[in-house]
Amino acid sequence: MKIISSPEKMKAFVAETKAQGKTVALVPTMGALHEGHLSLIDKAKSIADVVVVSVFVNPTQFGPNEDFDKYPRQLEEDASKCEARGAEAVFAPAVSDIYAPDASTYVVEEQISANLCGKSRPKHFRGVTTVVAILFNIVKPDFAVFGEKDAQQISVIKRMVRDLFMDVEIVSSPIVRDENGLALSSRNKYLDTVERVGAARVHRALLEGKRLSDEGCTNIDRIKALVINSVTNAKTRVIYVEIVDAETSLPVNEAIKGKTRISIAVWFGQTRLIDNILL
Ligand code: PAJ
Repeated sequence: MKIISSPEKMKAFVAETKAQGKTVALVPTMGALHEGHLSLIDKAKSIADVVVVSVFVNPTQFGPNEDFDKYPRQLEEDASKCEARGAEAVFAPAVSDIYAPDASTYVVEEQISANLCGKSRPKHFRGVTTVVAILFNIVKPDFAVFGEKDAQQISVIKRMVRDLFMDVEIVSSPIVRDENGLALSSRNKYLDTVERVGAARVHRALLEGKRLSDEGCTNIDRIKALVINSVTNAKTRVIYVEIVDAETSLPVNEAIKGKTRISIAVWFGQTRLIDNILL
């Protein structure tokens, strides 16, 4: 497996791969890889000949008081996990390889990004769409695989790809959870052992909401209230609970119909957790 940091070398690797008639799938990540990320590599391998995993902690998607500096960085460990899972290349550029000091161009999606996480993290999705567009321009993948854990992110990226006629197929992959139901996340590293068990109440609250919906309830306020009640305790502070369209992630405000999901973001102590469940 190759570890490549230069965008030019990455372009050359992909050009060579495509010249051999092979298809390429990209798995974009910020590293600190866990089973959730690795399941995306499995998915990518099942649809393409060659898998490239990008590992890049993207400064433009972090707010000024967020965890960019303390975000876990462990490239060597990440690279061996990618190799063990059968990836052909890891693309791990430096910030200066991706952003010129006077970079002044962004890709902005303006509808989906304004909701849910976009409300409390105003420039977050602008950073995501910008870096993902850059990665697509460098790697030119046939497929790009994203996790449903970040369902709003997938909706935003699909909208960008559609609106800008980008030549890549966006593929989504299910949420991987630990034995208590907590969705795996690089940010779970900030939780201690006791907090990790406690944080599983986020998933349990979503299951409660789904149970009510499965019983035939279509009243959004009732479902939201049950989820908020189930998740709230001394350690948690709810940022949002919304019923959203499963494809666009836009909030549904009348009675539930069609494919929807419950999306949630909470502060658990000092850690921001997100999760969702399909109804
Ligand atoms: P990161 O948080 O590292 O996540 C990389 C990919 O892994 C995303 O598609 C995310 O949805 C997926 N993922 C994370 N936890 C998962 C889990 N428990 N189950 C399944 N998939 C999971 O998302 C980003 O990085 C960045 O915003 C990025 C797209 C790389 C742009 O910088």
